[in-house]
Amino acid sequence: IVPLAIAPALLHWYDHNARDLPWRARPGSNAPDPYRVWLSEVMLQQTQVASVIPYFDKFTRAWPTVEALAASEDADLMAAWAGLGYYARARNLLACAREVARRGEFPDTEAGLRELPGVGGYTAAAIAAIAFGRRAVVVDANVERVVSRLFALEEALPGAKARIYALTDTITPELRSGDFAQAMMDLGSGICTARSPKCLLCPLRAHCAGFAGGTPERFPIKSAK
Ligand code: ADE
Repeated sequence: IVPLAIAPALLHWYDHNARDLPWRARPGSNAPDPYRVWLSEVMLQQTQVASVIPYFDKFTRAWPTVEALAASEDADLMAAWAGLGYYARARNLLACAREVARRGEFPDTEAGLRELPGVGGYTAAAIAAIAFGRRAVVVDANVERVVSRLFALEEALPGAKARIYALTDTITPELRSGDFAQAMMDLGSGICTARSPKCLLCPLRAHCAGFAGGTPERFPIKSAK
């Protein structure tokens, strides 16, 4: 594996194959709105992209800004959230919106973002990278799978999480780390899938130890419960 070769190949692929998702900036435009990035990442914490899209559209139509959301009634927000599940997320959403409205803006660093209600390590890294152009190491379940395969990681999850974070750090570029993170997610969702990965379509095939070993779907290894 040549870690520095991975980001350029992946970003080139992303420039031509990124999913057109409503919370992403259009290609060539400036960074996306932090409010929309935050809202999407909270919704995506335990819910699939396809299920999130209609909720994201409904929320951003009803509450186009974080100030509007902060001023909403608890019951209206809970009603709009109905169906997304994990209702603690909705309560944190309102608490977070009020905190951001009180401050006047979103914190623009990973450490600052982590102080917000409902924003954990993954979400803080994702917002810092995607909305603020900061270099951050963004690891979700898709990224865990892609990285495990790229490095043919023999260590099993969940113990391997720290190692996967460190490996993701070695391949995360200084520039465009938000695009890099979202490219890893798109790759994990469409190509480097849990079952039957489509390696012949993968822009990282030449860089992948899992592919070279012949059985990429063996990774990530999961420890017997
Ligand atoms: N899952 C979580 N965040 C995502 C994003 N920004 N794009 C695609 N899938 C995601």
